[in-house]
Parts: sequence; C-alpha cells; structure tokens
Amino acid sequence: MKLCKTINEIRQAVKTARSNGQTIGFVPTMGALHVGHETLIKQAAGQCGFVVVSIFVNPTQFEPGSDYNAYPRTLDADMELCKRAGASAVFAPSASEMYPQEVITWVNVERLTDGLCGQYRPGHFKGVTTVCDKLFNIVLPDKAYFGQKDAQQLAVIKRMVADLNMPLEIIGCTTVREESGLAMSSRNKYLTDAEKKEAALIYASLQLCEVLFEAGETDTKTLIAEMRKLLANGSNIKVQYIEIVDTQNLQPLDKIAGSALVVIAAHLGKARLIDNITI
Ligand code: PAJ
Repeated sequence: MKLCKTINEIRQAVKTARSNGQTIGFVPTMGALHVGHETLIKQAAGQCGFVVVSIFVNPTQFEPGSDYNAYPRTLDADMELCKRAGASAVFAPSASEMYPQEVITWVNVERLTDGLCGQYRPGHFKGVTTVCDKLFNIVLPDKAYFGQKDAQQLAVIKRMVADLNMPLEIIGCTTVREESGLAMSSRNKYLTDAEKKEAALIYASLQLCEVLFEAGETDTKTLIAEMRKLLANGSNIKVQYIEIVDTQNLQPLDKIAGSALVVIAAHLGKARLIDNITI
C-alpha cells in the first residue's frame, strides 16, 4: 500500500492503476480511523480494483471555536487499518498542499444545508462540499463511499454530484455501531467510559422512535417528546436537536406518511455526537 503526501504522487498512482484497467474507489476521511471507516474501505475494495483512502483533517469545515486542533491524528494506526482493509493507496496531504492560498472559490449546496447540523455549524457543509470536490478532482474516482451515519452530509454530497454532473457514483454505507448501539465515531475518543455508557441512550432513543412508529404513532411531535423523555435518563446528555425529516429534502415532517429520517445531535462531555435512522 502506497502513502502519497502530494497531489502529484496520488495523481500518478491513480493514473497507473487506471491505465491497468482498474476501477478507482475512493473513501474520504479525516483519519482517527475506526471499524466504521474500515467497513467503507472493505466495501470499496470489494467493488473496485484500486482503492484510495484520503486522510485529511479539513480546516475549512471546522467552524471557529470547534475542535480542529484537538481532533485526533493517528496516521500510523490509520495506515495499518487501511492496509488491513484492502486499500491500495493512502492520500494524506498537509493543509498547505490542499490549500496553498486563501480559498475564494467555494462549492455550496443550498437548502439541504440550512437545517439540522447546518443551523448549528455555519460554514461547515460549504467546507465539506468544497474539500470533497477538490478531492474528487484530484483522485478522479469512479465510486466514492460515504457513511449513512452522517446522513445530511451524504444527502448534500449526492446533490452536489447530481447538480454539477460530477462523473462518479456516490455509494451510501450502513452505520457501524458498538455493541451498545453507539454509532462509531472518531469523536467517541473524547468520551470517558462512563460517558460512553450514557451515550448508548442516543441510539436507544432512535430505536424507541422506531418501535412507537411501528406500533402506529405517526405524529412527529409525540415521537420526539418520547425520545426526549428517554434521553432525560442520561443526565449529562444535552440534546442539541431531534428532528424527523423527509428522507429526500430533509424538511421537517408533522406526520410520517411513508418513510422518514430521524436525526439527533447531542453534546456529552467534550463530544458532539450525531446519529440517525430511517424508519
Ligand atoms: P469522517 O468523520 O472521518 O468520516 C469519513 C467517512 O466515514 C464519512 O463518510 C462518514 O459518514 C463515515 N463514517 C463515520 N463513522 C461511521 C460509522 N460508524 N459507520 C459508517 N460510516 C461511518 O465525514 C468526514 O470524515 C468528512 O466530513 C469528509 C467527508 C472526509 C470531508 O472532510
């Protein structure tokens, strides 16, 4: 497995693979890799001859005062995981390699980024879409893999690719969870053991919503109130939002007719955790 730190190196590696007739799969990440990332890489390796994993803590998607400096950086362990999962190359550029000058050209997906995490993290999705477009232009993948764990991000990336006719396929992958149900996340590293236990309530609240919905409750206010009641058992969990939205346009629903996306964001200790399910 190759480690490329420059844009030229990764372009060369991909060019060689493509000239050998290999399909290019791409898994963009910010590192501190866990089994969730590993599953994405394995899925890519199962479907593509040459798999690139990018590891780049992207400064433009961290809003002022957030955890850019504290974000865990574990390149050696990440390289091991990538190798094990079947990656062909890791692209780990420096911030100056990706942003040699002030950015004055942005990719911005409107509307889908207004609500949910977008309202609490101004500029975040603009940073995500811009860096993903840059990475797509560098790697030129046939398929790129994103986790359903970040449901709004996945919807935004799919829309960007559709609106701008980007020549690649976006593949959404199922959320990987700890045994407790807690969605795996690089930010779980901020949690103490006690907080990790408490954090399992987040998924439990999503499951409760599903159970109540299956039993016939379709009123979203009632469902959200029941979820909040359950979460109140975790005295340190501070819910930022719980919303039940349309799976396509992410607009809040009053009643669930067909399917819906149930989305939650909460603070616990030093971590901001997000999770979701489709019901
Ligand atoms: P990061 O948080 O490192 O996540 C990289 C990819 O792994 C994302 O597509 C995310 O949805 C997926 N992922 C994370 N946890 C997962 C889990 N428990 N199960 C399944 N997939 C999971 O998301 C980003 O980085 C960045 O915003 C990025 C797209 C790389 C742009 O900088």
